[in-house]
Amino acid sequence: MRGIILAGGSGTRLHPSTLSVSKQLLPVYDKPMVYYPLSTLMLAGVREVLIISNPEHLDAYRALLGEGSVWGMRFAYVSQSSPRGLADAFILGEDFIDNEPVALMLGDNILYGSGLVEKLRSAAEIKRGAVIFAYLVKDPERFGIVELDHEQKPVSLEEKPSQPKSNYAVPGVYFYDAKVVEYAKSLKPSKRGEIEITDLNRIYLAQKELEVKVLGRGVAWLDAGTPEALLQAANFIQAVQDRQGFKISCPEEIAYRMKFIDRQQLAHIKDECKNPDYKQYLDDLIVETTIE
Ligand code: TTP
Repeated sequence: MRGIILAGGSGTRLHPSTLSVSKQLLPVYDKPMVYYPLSTLMLAGVREVLIISNPEHLDAYRALLGEGSVWGMRFAYVSQSSPRGLADAFILGEDFIDNEPVALMLGDNILYGSGLVEKLRSAAEIKRGAVIFAYLVKDPERFGIVELDHEQKPVSLEEKPSQPKSNYAVPGVYFYDAKVVEYAKSLKPSKRGEIEITDLNRIYLAQKELEVKVLGRGVAWLDAGTPEALLQAANFIQAVQDRQGFKISCPEEIAYRMKFIDRQQLAHIKDECKNPDYKQYLDDLIVETTIE
């Protein structure tokens, strides 16, 4: 399966920090924000990823991520001239998607926790229909919401409802079959002028082809779109990493553990790494897995 990371948008809630820098390049503790969604896609087994960002920021993503082979990945880049909405990813990504199933991840979403990887991998196996996730939140008015029946099957979908029918928000990771491109093209802009992913998911729901997987409380879903949320995300990552000694969303480690690269390739990355702490982490990983 291929993947898309949406790393554009206006980032107005983070102005002035995002006036000249793309939001998804801001650091979340010890690494750029985009490493987190990228790691999520890698853990789902996705090796070909399209990065979509604003024209003025695309070169910065190219400088950070390159063409991907160092991590056993393939990265492609497309610019989005204005933030037309999340579903625009599939119109801009049509050539990249090339009639295959595709995963979309929002560039400012962070997912971490128990049981997550298994759910992502099974979602990545779909050949037909769509898979989205549901996550209990206490402020559903702020999110896309899915209403579920007693068998946890989807009943309705609403975007930022003033009177939500449930507390299940839809996190920013979605899996679709190849029909998504045609469906995205058929969407009309909403009142706020965007082509909405919720409307796209509604098409799959109407066709009875929408599967919802509920993420339990053992999973952390964070977004980093406001100053408070960005700081909270950084604090969370720091606290967990410091306690466990494992890094959250270290693409080099994931590439190695997923066998996208071998030990020799990881050793090469480590040798090139100029940050002594990050270098030590990669070195420890090599030593530990050599003993295993
Ligand atoms: P949002 O949080 O909806 O918007 P934003 O990032 O532009 O921020 P703000 O509301 O503060 O102005 O976007 C969610 C993610 O999707 C985020 O990573 C930006 C990205 N995005 C795009 O890449 N293109 C788009 O057209 C939109 C709407 C969002």
